[in-house]
Amino acid sequence: MSVHRSAAPRYTVTGGAVLRGKVQISGAKNASLAAMCAALLTDEDVILTNVPKISDVDTLGELLVSLGCVVERLGNGRLRLNGGGVRLFEAPSELISENRASFQVMGPLLAAHGYAASAPPGGDVIGQRPIDVHLEGFRALGARISRDGERYVAEAADGPLSLKGARIFMDYPSVSGSQNVMMAAVLASGHTTMVNAATEPEVQELAHLLNAMGAKISGIGSQMLEIDGVRELHGATARIMPDRIEAGTFAIAAAMSGGDVEIDDAPCGVMDALLAKLIAMGTSVDRAEGHLRIRGARELKSVNFQALPYPGLATDLHAPMATALTQAHGVSVIHERVFDNRMLYVTELLKMGARIVSTGNSAIITGPTALNGAHVRALDVRAGAAILLAALVADGVTVIDDIQHLDRGYEHLDTKLRALGVQIERS
Ligand code: EPZ
Repeated sequence: MSVHRSAAPRYTVTGGAVLRGKVQISGAKNASLAAMCAALLTDEDVILTNVPKISDVDTLGELLVSLGCVVERLGNGRLRLNGGGVRLFEAPSELISENRASFQVMGPLLAAHGYAASAPPGGDVIGQRPIDVHLEGFRALGARISRDGERYVAEAADGPLSLKGARIFMDYPSVSGSQNVMMAAVLASGHTTMVNAATEPEVQELAHLLNAMGAKISGIGSQMLEIDGVRELHGATARIMPDRIEAGTFAIAAAMSGGDVEIDDAPCGVMDALLAKLIAMGTSVDRAEGHLRIRGARELKSVNFQALPYPGLATDLHAPMATALTQAHGVSVIHERVFDNRMLYVTELLKMGARIVSTGNSAIITGPTALNGAHVRALDVRAGAAILLAALVADGVTVIDDIQHLDRGYEHLDTKLRALGVQIERS
């Protein structure tokens, strides 16, 4: 599995689109990445289906291969992984810096092999993004944590399979922190309780996969995870859940363009916060099991929201929602409560004529405002989605540079938008 790195690609979008038609949601990026790391916990095959073709999956795949893991695309969204050949326990720093989820190899390597090391993880520049919760969790399970230059080193004193269960209080319900510590605890002897664990659907999905591999995790979906350690795990086949953030992005696009879009394989059951806000904005939302129909209102109403841990409104939908609120009648107030520097998208929206005042982790948006086409950049995955949504409704043509950020999290994005009536070119 290799990643093709070329000159920064761009989108050219002609605005004024009213989105109509059907879109099929792909598998979830953040569930896929964690599930791929779980394969390091067994030397049997782990088969994942509904895995999106996005660059973050390719980068993590490349990293796992560098450790000695087999990673094979079987076609139709199926991925075969086998950790039996792992002989290296340190991720190459150049790959870790590209994709934050790569740090989630630490827990499984530490548990299964008694040693793991890594450079500090990279990923989107949306705040401090410390890893203390991960390291404190490993330490509580009996690992010795040290620094060697910028590298973090975690060692289990008695080698492979020698971690010990513990009661762990998570300082913050970190998504990847909970996934990493959970993957370390499933092979630790005795009982582990994770207090204040994250409840995001992607954390729950990983727990279900680990149980399918023979782990003993209960309390899934609550902030108290109970884990009885086992000596070994076996292979399993699991379907990756549909991407609630991708589904949310398309729902917002439909609502703000006054369109009528049917969203197939939409995980409505984990999208309540967003759907409630879209309805409050005047959007017509029809939901059924795995399906959504979104019909935009003639006039959107302003709303306030806070980006919060699940089940609150996802921080990954903060920026796309902000774009929608530039088209709403009235003043909207947004507070970001998860990351401490996730307002960078505002600079690009201001270039398109949006009326936004942002201070610290809050923004005040006045609408409706006619946005104008401009030359802008995708600053990260979700800021990129926000600027693309703005381009859909703007007057004239918008050129968006650095769309490699969008490729990291959205599968076939331009093809899907074109099918909904958007004029978009990739170059
Ligand atoms: C995951 O990031 C997602 N990434 C993010 O999606 C998502 O925004 C985030 O969860 C919140 O939902 C993946 O799953 C790969 P966190 P993660 O650890 O795990 C503090 C996208 O666009 N914290 O829950 O890195 C931290 O400072 C990406 O798809 C600590 O204090 O997020 C932050 O404020 C962007 N100590 C907050 O928790 C720690 O050790 C949330 O971080 C860890 C985190």
